[in-house]
Amino acid sequence: MNTAITILIVILVIFILWQVFIRILRRYLDFPAPAFIGNFLDSDFRRRMQSPDKIISRSGIKEGMKVLEVGCGSGAFTTFVARAVGDKGEVFALDIQPEMLKQIENKLKRSENKDIKNIQLIEGDALNMPLEDNYFDLVYSITVFQEIPDKNKALKEIKRVLKPNGVLAITEFLPDPDYPLKSTTVKIGTSEGFISDEVEGSFWNYTARFIKPDN
Ligand SMILES: C[S@@+](CC[C@H](N)C(=O)[O-])C[C@H]1O[C@@H](n2cnc3c(N)ncnc32)[C@H](O)[C@@H]1O
Repeated sequence: MNTAITILIVILVIFILWQVFIRILRRYLDFPAPAFIGNFLDSDFRRRMQSPDKIISRSGIKEGMKVLEVGCGSGAFTTFVARAVGDKGEVFALDIQPEMLKQIENKLKRSENKDIKNIQLIEGDALNMPLEDNYFDLVYSITVFQEIPDKNKALKEIKRVLKPNGVLAITEFLPDPDYPLKSTTVKIGTSEGFISDEVEGSFWNYTARFIKPDN
């Protein structure tokens, strides 16, 4: 067997073992993705697999919107969203880990991001968000939802902060050891009265959109 094939098989085996290990651990323990993976999350390599433009378009993010990112991590997509909503829009980036928020704060200090003035960083838990009722046009999360221990409580909170007819967009990505199937995300998303809108993308990289009813 040639060396390249051997290396590929070794990588594949490590990937599968990692997935199995984390999934078993998750059955017993709730913990957020550790902050030391922030550099990987916010890497061009990752964005080549998960294009920010596609996530923005699939989520329904548009100019002028007030949006909330739940679990922004190190901000891999936050600056792209801030540019997409533009000067008249707002991005609130919420994460439970201050170490993650520090990474996005440092990112925003870089010269290439000096033009971005519409991001507010918020340390908080998706289960109890320090945010106003009926404020946002859209809430999105990328590879976060399965980390939240009480998903129904988080959905109630998201519903509270969304305007009537506001959009919830949940993006999932297979290399994430928490990756759920589309059907699982749709089942969870609709369990608190959200209406399922559309699921776009591939099996391994998709966005499910939901609408908050206006009553
Ligand atoms: C796998 S990372 C993804 C980060 C970012 N969305 C991305 O795609 O690069 C998951 C993030 O969700 C955050 N998180 C997990 N549980 C949370 C909760 N209950 N409330 C707020 N953030 C949470 C973690 O701290 C972590 O930064």
